[in-house]
Amino acid sequence: MFALSDADLQGRILGCGDGPASFNALLTRRGGQVLSVDPLYRFAVDDIRRRIGETFAEVMEQTRRNRHEFTWTSIGTVEELGRLRMSAMEEFLSDYCGGVEQGRYVDGELPHLPFADGEFDLALCSHLLFLYSAQLSRDFHVAAIREMCRVAGEVRVFPLLELGARESRHLRAVTEELIAEGMDVAIVPVSYEFQRGGNRMMNIRGAETGNRGFSPHSNTGKHLTD
Ligand SMILES: C[S@@+](CC[C@H](N)C(=O)[O-])C[C@H]1O[C@@H](n2cnc3c(N)ncnc32)[C@H](O)[C@@H]1O
Repeated sequence: MFALSDADLQGRILGCGDGPASFNALLTRRGGQVLSVDPLYRFAVDDIRRRIGETFAEVMEQTRRNRHEFTWTSIGTVEELGRLRMSAMEEFLSDYCGGVEQGRYVDGELPHLPFADGEFDLALCSHLLFLYSAQLSRDFHVAAIREMCRVAGEVRVFPLLELGARESRHLRAVTEELIAEGMDVAIVPVSYEFQRGGNRMMNIRGAETGNRGFSPHSNTGKHLTD
């Protein structure tokens, strides 16, 4: 999704809206420095496990109904997708309590992140911005990316499609606004494609920031689960 190189994985990485994904657990295990921020992390592990159990069948059913919107090359069937997703979520759940204690899973919400300027080398955001363009406004997207640029030297957002596998209705306006604010914005092809046509990420570099560190604070803002 993000065309991450070995060099990228050696930096300090922030995952925004990581949810119950296994990226943090896997990268931590291989010695990386990664912190995930999501409003989901205000909940205890049993609540998250119960919520996954309650929603899993419906999410799979939606995927089955919309199966024409996805490529089925590396993942062959909805059932296989279900097994992969469940195993990633199990990986997350088994890492979660220790990760909270270590400050790797932080309760917080774009567009206000509880981190200092330039605290990270790279901020990643997958399947939140652009994907939920019907729910999140153009201004929210700009504010969220501006905020990620405040805390990280580089930002990558994937995919650039909204639900329904259409290009995000905000993509052009958000790109123009970020460029007008002085950011470097590139639309970059990546090798991963599951939503049909969803094989591009946005790469953004903002103004240089100083002030390096790695310490979560607390904050609140807008999130999709409201
Ligand atoms: C569809 S999931 C994507 C999870 C993961 N990034 C992935 O690609 O598998 C969207 C996630 O965004 C989180 N979220 C919703 N609003 C948010 C906000 N304002 N800031 C940060 N995360 C948010 C949700 O809690 C959820 O975990």
